[in-house]
Amino acid sequence: MAELAEIKKQGLLYRGKAKEMYTTNHSDILWVHYLDQVTALNGKRKVQMTDKGKTNCVISSQLFTDLRHQGIKNHFIKQLDLTDQLVQRVQIIPLETVIRNYASGSFVKRYQTEYLQKFSQPVIEFFYKNDVLDDPFLNDDDALALGLATNDQISEIRQIALQVNQHLIQIFEKINVQLVDFKLEFGVTKMGTVILADELSPDNCRLVDVQTKQSLDKDIFRQGLGEMVPVYEKVLQRLQQSEEA
Ligand code: C5P
Repeated sequence: MAELAEIKKQGLLYRGKAKEMYTTNHSDILWVHYLDQVTALNGKRKVQMTDKGKTNCVISSQLFTDLRHQGIKNHFIKQLDLTDQLVQRVQIIPLETVIRNYASGSFVKRYQTEYLQKFSQPVIEFFYKNDVLDDPFLNDDDALALGLATNDQISEIRQIALQVNQHLIQIFEKINVQLVDFKLEFGVTKMGTVILADELSPDNCRLVDVQTKQSLDKDIFRQGLGEMVPVYEKVLQRLQQSEEA
């Protein structure tokens, strides 16, 4: 790995809904900038929110570091400042992997189950990461037929997703937060290894306060439940206090 202090930001590679990715002077390293922007309905609703990028960048950096310490390979290299990170360049597999411990969101809508019904074992779902098609639900065979991933990659994704779930449940339990569900994205390195990528923050996790059952995630924005950033900051504060303890 090149000297990280010598990494220089270059051109914009991709502007997503919450992040910008830049190339660097190192072909295997990308520069991520977290935006003060929140979107819902696949980008159809978009709002600027001061400090939102900061909270997501810091939370994601901490969670990826914790997962690395637990032996889970991921793309995170270094947090540069409050809104920017260096990550390993990977080819993103166009599958959104959702892991659910309790019923919520599209699961409740699809199957008309009770909100926060506990599952006897984690539920893994796949969605096709495709903005034009609105990220449709799909199964392993569909993903294979569409050439989105190989059988081995899907098995590996399932295995890593369950490991990530176990660790995240513990991390959030310590701060009195119930991990309802979350979305992961995976990428393939140039060596062909499947590793965890994207971000881990209240934007892509459903988090509920154990005592009050208050939502501590993007559902605040999706459902118009009030100010979102102060709640994200509360999650960050609790994570940092737990880390220091
Ligand atoms: O909406 P749904 O219930 O399927 O979402 C499951 C989980 O995946 C939630 O934690 C949600 O925040 C996350 N998600 C995401 N990006 C999407 C869709 C869902 O991060 N495009």
